[in-house]
Amino acid sequence: MGKSVFGMAAALALPCLLAGPSVAAAKLAPKSAHHHATAAAMAGAAAQPWWTHAVIYEIYPRSFQDSNGDGVGDLNGVTQRLDYLKGLGVDAIWLTPFYPSPNYDFGYDVADYTNVAPEYGTMADWDRLVAEARKRGIRVLVDFVLNHSSSEHPWFQQSRMSRANPKRDWYVWHDPAPDGGPPTNWQSIFGGSAWTLDKATGQYYYHIFLPQQPDLNWRNPGLRKAMQDVMRFWLRHGASGFRLDATPYLLEDPAWPNDPDPKSGAPVGLKPYNSGLPGNHPIMRDLRAIVNSYPGDRILLGESNIATISDLAKVYGVRHDEVNLPMDFLYSGVKTLDAQAFKARIDEAELKLHGEPPVLFFSNHDSSRQWTRFGDGVHNDQIARLTAAMTLTLRGTSLIYYGEELGMGDLSKAVINGLPLSPKRKVADDRDPERTPMQWSGEPKAGFTTGEPWLPVNPVTATYNAQSEVQDPTSLYHWYADLIQLRRTNAALREGAYVALDSGNPKVLAFARKDKAGQGVLVVLNMSDTPQIANISGWQGQTPVFNKVVLARPAIQMPSLGNPTLEPFGVQILSFDPR
Ligand code: NOJ
Ligand code: CA
Repeated sequence: MGKSVFGMAAALALPCLLAGPSVAAAKLAPKSAHHHATAAAMAGAAAQPWWTHAVIYEIYPRSFQDSNGDGVGDLNGVTQRLDYLKGLGVDAIWLTPFYPSPNYDFGYDVADYTNVAPEYGTMADWDRLVAEARKRGIRVLVDFVLNHSSSEHPWFQQSRMSRANPKRDWYVWHDPAPDGGPPTNWQSIFGGSAWTLDKATGQYYYHIFLPQQPDLNWRNPGLRKAMQDVMRFWLRHGASGFRLDATPYLLEDPAWPNDPDPKSGAPVGLKPYNSGLPGNHPIMRDLRAIVNSYPGDRILLGESNIATISDLAKVYGVRHDEVNLPMDFLYSGVKTLDAQAFKARIDEAELKLHGEPPVLFFSNHDSSRQWTRFGDGVHNDQIARLTAAMTLTLRGTSLIYYGEELGMGDLSKAVINGLPLSPKRKVADDRDPERTPMQWSGEPKAGFTTGEPWLPVNPVTATYNAQSEVQDPTSLYHWYADLIQLRRTNAALREGAYVALDSGNPKVLAFARKDKAGQGVLVVLNMSDTPQIANISGWQGQTPVFNKVVLARPAIQMPSLGNPTLEPFGVQILSFDPR
């Protein structure tokens, strides 16, 4: 039985004892032994492990910073920009692949798991990057592409030599169907059959992605050990953990059933025969145990596509010993700015993951940037503030895709489609629009390179760029930096429970965070282009009084004592005290 939050006079405010089913607290045992000196740890305040409330910044190295004028970003470029990342306040960076690769899928086709591609630098550059990042309290995560290698990896080259080759079973080979066609009618996520015939040996190999990305056979103990050794290699080289690529696809249904109707039902990437097999769990437990055996609270961040929240809960492991941080693709799958759709996803992420931290994000190198997705062409800056405020005030870990903090959007398809291919871009990829160079400055090449960038710079860099935004305290960059700082310093936002609320208005999202002492923060977001009035209810116990504006845009002087009134796409973050 909710009451209007603002309908209560200050004098009536009593201690608020928020508890019960709408409150979720992370129930994870604290860990020790930080070998990295993160700012949060140095503040001595973190009772929960760092990764349960972190901000992890995704860097697509090819597009972040070029240090040698060849138009391709590189590891030394990332090192040059660490001070910028420190200023933003991130806890960790996740680098998408920088391994040697023929680049059919820009590094997600790995030809050597324990090396750096010459275009990105050397192992010495990697070691220096980690050392410099650590000095600034920033951890570095490696993208581990474990489902498949490149068809140019020596393991596959050996595997395809003969059916008797010792590496034959490291990949997934099958005889043709009786008619000589593929063994099953399964489709690849990238289109076409998931099987390619290798004429030399007369068998098909399986690939859930491109034919140049043959699936590794995780049922083979030798392959399993080799891949675990790859992890140990990067852990010895200072990685704070891994972003695990494509975790649902490690095993396939051993009965190899034909799909009765491959074009209907679940999307190609979520079929019962190609994803989420029970045997994935022990594989992940082994990987987590390896990561845990190194000091410093290292982690697994999973690209763990799922259909439902209960499937997502299972990826953490029923005993909380599998993937630390599986990304929540249900939240990132909300494609319109709809308060009710977001509330449904947020409530389930916060309340149905058994206290584990949700991993919330909007975009990455595989999906359209949120600036483009949610922008209405009129209020884009304000909408970007609203989406940032939502994710960064929720319980759990947030992922930021490079440049979203500046207001980077997708490059138009018209520009991309007219581009000729080149040695630096030998395939055109649907995802190129969201992979353009980081906008460091307003110059035509955006401060990204002195040469010819491998993908064009988005011309909006003239307005949206780091150089001008860092200098402007009212910029989107500073909004992000302020939110990150707030989330680190405010106990309720850092580790507090999530409190589901009813905003009383379908255009408005409202929720609260509450720390152990009962102090808290209320977040109210207007997801519409007209002014809205909220009528918030849903408190368990006495409704608190909000007496302080923590952050608001457009600015407000004092929280209204009536129902809060919000400007178009307005954001209000207010605080309350126990009384
Ligand atoms: C997911 C990665 O994020 C994507 O970029 C890649 O194409 C596929 N996995 C295959 O590795
Ligand atoms: Ca370069």
